[in-house]
Amino acid sequence: MDPYQGCLVALLGASDRALIVAHLHALDMEDRINRFCCVTTDESIEQYVNGIRFGQDIVLGTLAEGRVVGFVHAPVFDEGRERVCEIGISVDAGFRKTGIGKRMLQASIATANSLQIRRVYVQYMTSNGPMAALARSAGGRLERDGSESSAVFEAEAPVLRGGKPCRARSLGLEAVS
Ligand SMILES: CC(C)(COP(=O)(O)OP(=O)(O)OC[C@H]1O[C@@H](n2cnc3c(N)ncnc32)[C@H](O)[C@@H]1OP(=O)(O)O)[C@@H](O)C(=O)NCCC(=O)NCCS
Repeated sequence: MDPYQGCLVALLGASDRALIVAHLHALDMEDRINRFCCVTTDESIEQYVNGIRFGQDIVLGTLAEGRVVGFVHAPVFDEGRERVCEIGISVDAGFRKTGIGKRMLQASIATANSLQIRRVYVQYMTSNGPMAALARSAGGRLERDGSESSAVFEAEAPVLRGGKPCRARSLGLEAVS
């Protein structure tokens, strides 16, 4: 049984910035490179979190033991006439391979669908096997371009393998701030 099945996936707000920073600071060098596709210092993580547009972007977290152990930030932007978003995702090293990443990815896609966002992207380094496995498991269309890859989730296609597109509410999403 998944020991973290009861973890709450929640919408995060500006008052959660410190919890988000703590989560990202705990990522080691390799995780930071995988998450941000570049070497990232503590200071640049703080700048990044300060720049998150809560209320405009999709910002979700998984809470356990009083901290954020999983985090998704998906800036929303225009691509031609369509609204799309690009997901960045991370799970605390001690909580990986327990289904948290998949639940957060599914919740992000469901939230995007409910906001009429046409397409969801995840960009990652081709060498990032765990992210490729997660994207494949969530039903993404994987595209490889040398050392970089992307997973694409179309809003009109069934976004969850073997099931209907789900709504944020059905995943028990709620604001914690
Ligand atoms: C990528 C990452 C978010 C995955 O999170 P996770 O919570 O461990 O993923 P899950 O437990 O939900 O696993 C989802 C699927 O991927 C598979 N998977 C996850 N990690 C794996 C690994 N190391 N090797 C093989 N398969 C793996 C799981 O088996 C599962 O497959 P299934 O649904 O068929 O059973 C996590 O490894 C991470 O935070 N990495 C550092 C940051 C990063 O690389 N971000 C991605 C770029 S934005």
